[in-house]
Amino acid sequence: MWDREARDRAGGARARRGERGARMGLRGSDPFVEQVRLATDILAVISPFLELHKAGKRWKGRCPFHAEKTPSFFVNQENQTFYCFGCREGGDVFTFLMMMEKVTFPDALKMLAERAGIEIPRRRFPGAAEGDDRLGEAIEVAASFFSDRLRSQEGGPARDYLMRRGIDEEQIARFGLGWAPASWDALLQHARRLLPERVLLSAGLVVEGERGLYDRFRERVMIPIRTPGGRPVAFGGRLLGDGEPKYLNSPETPLYKKGAILFGLSQARDAIRAEENVLVVEGYFDVISLSTAGIGWVVGSCGTALTAEQAMLLRRYAERWVLLFDGDAAGRTAVLRALDAAVPVHPGVRVALCPKGLDPDSWVRAEGPAAVRQALSRSYTPLQYVEEHVREEGLAPEVVLSRVADLLRKITDPLVRDLWVQDAAGRFRIREARIYEAIGRAGPGTASRPQPIAPAAASPERRPMGQRERQIVAVAVASPSLAAELREACAEIPEIDSRCGDLLAWIAERYLEGIVDEAALLSSASEDPDIWRGLDFLHGETGSVAEVPVDLVPRLRALGLQRRMRDLTDRIRRAEERGEPIVSLLKEKQDLAAALRETEAPDGERKSNFP
Ligand code: GTP
Ligand code: MN
Repeated sequence: MWDREARDRAGGARARRGERGARMGLRGSDPFVEQVRLATDILAVISPFLELHKAGKRWKGRCPFHAEKTPSFFVNQENQTFYCFGCREGGDVFTFLMMMEKVTFPDALKMLAERAGIEIPRRRFPGAAEGDDRLGEAIEVAASFFSDRLRSQEGGPARDYLMRRGIDEEQIARFGLGWAPASWDALLQHARRLLPERVLLSAGLVVEGERGLYDRFRERVMIPIRTPGGRPVAFGGRLLGDGEPKYLNSPETPLYKKGAILFGLSQARDAIRAEENVLVVEGYFDVISLSTAGIGWVVGSCGTALTAEQAMLLRRYAERWVLLFDGDAAGRTAVLRALDAAVPVHPGVRVALCPKGLDPDSWVRAEGPAAVRQALSRSYTPLQYVEEHVREEGLAPEVVLSRVADLLRKITDPLVRDLWVQDAAGRFRIREARIYEAIGRAGPGTASRPQPIAPAAASPERRPMGQRERQIVAVAVASPSLAAELREACAEIPEIDSRCGDLLAWIAERYLEGIVDEAALLSSASEDPDIWRGLDFLHGETGSVAEVPVDLVPRLRALGLQRRMRDLTDRIRRAEERGEPIVSLLKEKQDLAAALRETEAPDGERKSNFP
């Protein structure tokens, strides 16, 4: 779950920047830009990307920039703008294209000019932008050259190789795979007829040696790396046999920042949205192989540990992420590094490991997609993973505390952080206070005390619900099927505002009446003034809680049980002091402890996918 207020601020700032940019004429003053804008209808540009329905004066659809079930993305044809109430992205037709195709402003401008049939003035793109443009061209020329070579006679061994790895024609086409021939200058000879040599050089396709230019990639299976919009910007090249280096990658260029791109994203986009899930793996062939096996919602970090930039990119596509890494020691360490980048962006991220000795590619080919899917459904939360890691490595308690603190420190949402601290305290038998101390943040009661939105003048019962309660209710509004469980869990936690329980009860009743989605729920709520007022904090926006923590319910339940455990322990202590009988209390404590253990291993199979 995101810190809603932080998002508001970021979104607001973005929107304001956009507005100001337009008003100050950063783009607006340019007659060519205005010509393109006037010739373009934002609705026509956006509609191929998503289904839009008329909603009053505007058009409405499911946001392409974050995962949502209920439409909160609006297109305003009158102002030629778009805005999403869920993720707060918005702007004009240029902004949309830049975000959707992950291109720069000059590229978006060029695409729209071409679309409108407006001739682009020569010298239109100054400096780097012109270079970027030609770099893109060079990569495309190379991609189709490699792809032709793969289909030609000299591509025979490479085709055999791919066949042996279980990759068929369809996947070759889908990923645009190719073959760089065994020649020092095959690409150079071909491409220099179309582009200046310096462009080929800066695109990283050719290298300058003592005796002149030569091809960087030789005798390698070529794997294009694309932007999320599908434009190739770099290559990975793999040797057919053994040898060093196994992979040769394009250098970074103005087009290609390796930590900012995810391999396979453009191919996986639709599957990710349909599955509402994204699988992150390390290798090119892991991506291709899983995708071949029907697990198409997969992307590769390829050549780097997952970076924060890649995580931010993922956030636009799915709310459920599973990191699937090799089961060996290197894989385990890679997971920790990947969590460092993923947890701050998405604490709900999960982890799965391949059986020892296998990588995702060999695993799915040996055991089939069903086995992989099944293991994925038993993936670990980050803390569960750390627990297993600690056990495996036999780490000392101080190291454990610092590992745990490193992870917890990255969580900005106070509700989520408190739950994690609770979880970690039980899991690693460390006092909560010590954990809070180690992460250098105040404990509950301060960090997550309900913060009134309105100034304190309001009477106590009109005081708005705290942030924690608002978040829980927002989750239930987004997923009414969770309301009953959430209510039950909250009932066990005395410090939770009773109005939260009332709202949850109301939502749970509606769910029983057959109201299963957010839109229907809100329309029913609007008929009940008390409930409607209670939901005021949502500001009538829907789809606003894209990130539902996967295990909010079990965590809340565990929190409730821990509170009861604390009370019970107090009562036992007092009874002992007064010399009263404690047998029945001890029995109760035993039951409670059993229930607590249950919440820690909800699927009872946690250990089994750890080789
Ligand atoms: P194979 O199955 O052996 O073809 O490779 P893989 O795709 O499974 O890759 P592996 O698990 O060995 O490594 C994961 C990723 O790290 C690869 O996809 C590459 O992006 C990168 N990588 C691996 N080896 C090399 C190398 O020798 N040089 C470079 N630059 N990157 C490499
Ligand atoms: Mn592999």
